[in-house]
Amino acid sequence: MRSVGTVVLLLVMAPACEQTRVDASALPKVADRASASPNGPPDARMSLDELDARQALPLLPMMANHQKQNMRDHLLAVQEIVAAVAIEDFPSAARAAGRIGSSPSMAQMCTHMGAGVAGFTERALAFHQSADGIAAAALQNDGPAVLNALGKTLSACTACHAAYKQSVVDDSTWKRLTAPTRQVTAPDHASAPRSSD
Ligand code: HEC
Repeated sequence: MRSVGTVVLLLVMAPACEQTRVDASALPKVADRASASPNGPPDARMSLDELDARQALPLLPMMANHQKQNMRDHLLAVQEIVAAVAIEDFPSAARAAGRIGSSPSMAQMCTHMGAGVAGFTERALAFHQSADGIAAAALQNDGPAVLNALGKTLSACTACHAAYKQSVVDDSTWKRLTAPTRQVTAPDHASAPRSSD
């Protein structure tokens, strides 16, 4: 009898418990999700942006993600270079350095990434050129020279990080920021007297 009573009691309570559980968890869950999201709620993002005085590097979301992937690989390359030099495996050091060295495709990507702000592309290109020195030293099997070149390159990493922060923008802002100068100054040309063309 007692067990039947318990079952009946549980059955009666079950929907209420279920209801209570859903009610109690629904709101905190939403709030938790917002504060746990990588970028945080809009207000918090704005405060972060105000605290971070670096120059904004405007990027579309896909570009920002791509840049971070590249950056993580840059750090991985540094890790591989140091590990290779420690065991005097210079071919591996040269290979890892090659991943951060200069190339036409790297230059094209950096030009695209830096299209929204002055100075970024130049820094990025100088950084990749500096990294060419790491591979060159590795090809000479010269450990101290590899570390010396790596140190110089790392100072280009840290200088750029000190200067720029990602700023994710929407399509129309990106188009406005990267519009060719000719288009930006179009009103002046339009109002100027046209003698030819
Ligand atoms: C020309 C500029 C520039 C250079 C050079 C540069 N970075 Fe970055 N890196 C950035 C920017 C911009 C960010 C985003 C910073 C932010 O928004 O806080 C970043 C972010 C990163 C991150 C964080 C990635 C993530 O997932 O959040 C790592 C790691 C990183 N860089 C490593 C490196 C290393 C290692 C080097 C050099 C070997 C390097 N970077 C060189 C501009 C640069």
